[in-house]
Amino acid sequence: MPASELSKKNIWSNQTIFILAAVGSAVGLGNIWKFPYITGENGGGAFVLVYLACVLLIGLPVLMAEISLGRRGGASPPEAMKNLALENKTSKLWWLLGLNGILAGILILSFYTVIAGWAVSYFYDSFIGEFKNISTTQATEHFSSLVSNPMQLLFWHTVIMLVTIIVVSKGLKSGIEKVITYMMPALLVLLLILFGYAMSITGFGQSLSFLFAPDFSKLTGQSVLIAMGHAFFTLSIGLGTMMVYGSYLSKKHSIVKASIWISFADTLVALVAGVIVFSIVFSNGLEPSSGPGLLFKTLPVAFGQMTGGWFFGTLFFGLVVIAAFSSAISLIEPAISWFIDRWQMSRKKASWALGVLIWLTGIGTVLSFNQWDEVYFLDGKTFFETLDFITTNIMLPLGALFIAIFFGWILTKQQITEELNLPDKMLKIFISTVKFIAPTAVLIVFVANLI
Ligand code: PFF
Repeated sequence: MPASELSKKNIWSNQTIFILAAVGSAVGLGNIWKFPYITGENGGGAFVLVYLACVLLIGLPVLMAEISLGRRGGASPPEAMKNLALENKTSKLWWLLGLNGILAGILILSFYTVIAGWAVSYFYDSFIGEFKNISTTQATEHFSSLVSNPMQLLFWHTVIMLVTIIVVSKGLKSGIEKVITYMMPALLVLLLILFGYAMSITGFGQSLSFLFAPDFSKLTGQSVLIAMGHAFFTLSIGLGTMMVYGSYLSKKHSIVKASIWISFADTLVALVAGVIVFSIVFSNGLEPSSGPGLLFKTLPVAFGQMTGGWFFGTLFFGLVVIAAFSSAISLIEPAISWFIDRWQMSRKKASWALGVLIWLTGIGTVLSFNQWDEVYFLDGKTFFETLDFITTNIMLPLGALFIAIFFGWILTKQQITEELNLPDKMLKIFISTVKFIAPTAVLIVFVANLI
């Protein structure tokens, strides 16, 4: 299908829906599950500061660049890059940037659905009252017994994968838009309620100083790389998701405004989730660096103690599932749109073919927490950790680097103005950031880690 036809068929109903969908993609497990645990593993405040700097100095500009490339290219990421390369008379090999993103999306989704499965399982457990008056030790045991059971993990992974395929196969309007319209505001309200709870418990102050009082002696080269990778992961950039979403965006909508909203909402949710989790950690003498299980070992304790905990707990895990779900949909969309516009597959066929492939890859992650928990693939990392590292810390930064290079060095000022419509002074600052600061920062962090 030619690009023009694809983009004519699929256009967001309005700017708000686009922002909600993009926020839906950005806000997910990355904010609620991953941000707290990697912050705990990397020492707190200094890590948070580097992450915030990465969001502002690299993430936001690359986000604007990626959406612009998508809208201008008007197709799936590899095809959009080909169109743009053609328009600017440069090498068609730029399509590989799109391919890198598609592969990263497939790999990320394969572990993402497994973790989302944990949240579904917790939703169910909360609903049946399992967390009532649960102690910290019992919560830790509860988590261990879930992840040590591969059949249970496989079951929930399958459920999430199936629902994702079904929604995605229905397409943009009837599938994605419907799911996200109500859930993003609901999630925010619930997080604020939990924030109120966090303020009332003893660990609140300690949680604030853990997150916001930087101790730079705890920062390593590796943790800077992780903070940068996470900035891309959490904003859903570097893999073509925002490019595809941008390709469905009408010319009359503002990319700058949308990008600022996306980054703001995403950062706010992560910080609020961090404060909630660490308040519970410090109130109950838990370990901040306890890894991927952190969210699941802490929140049930809070829900078990608070009045109305059954209701809030069930609602909370339900919303985590939906947040994960709107991100899952966006992780697979670059690949689907490519199968449709490059390989002329129907949306339905593309969704099922990719879904099966991702489901199979996900089995590796299912096993990483039990039978393969001592099988290492890369430098002492389990299958899950290896996938997470390669995608988040290598593929996404590389994707972002090349997006910045293409946007900053190949597009003309006229083309950029057409997409971004910024006042001249702002435009100059923006272009220099994308041209120099973003690529240099990514390169420095990479090279420093290699050395
Ligand atoms: N941003 C999502 C999160 O924070 O959970 C994950 C994600 C979605 C990453 C889509 C990349 C992407 F393209």
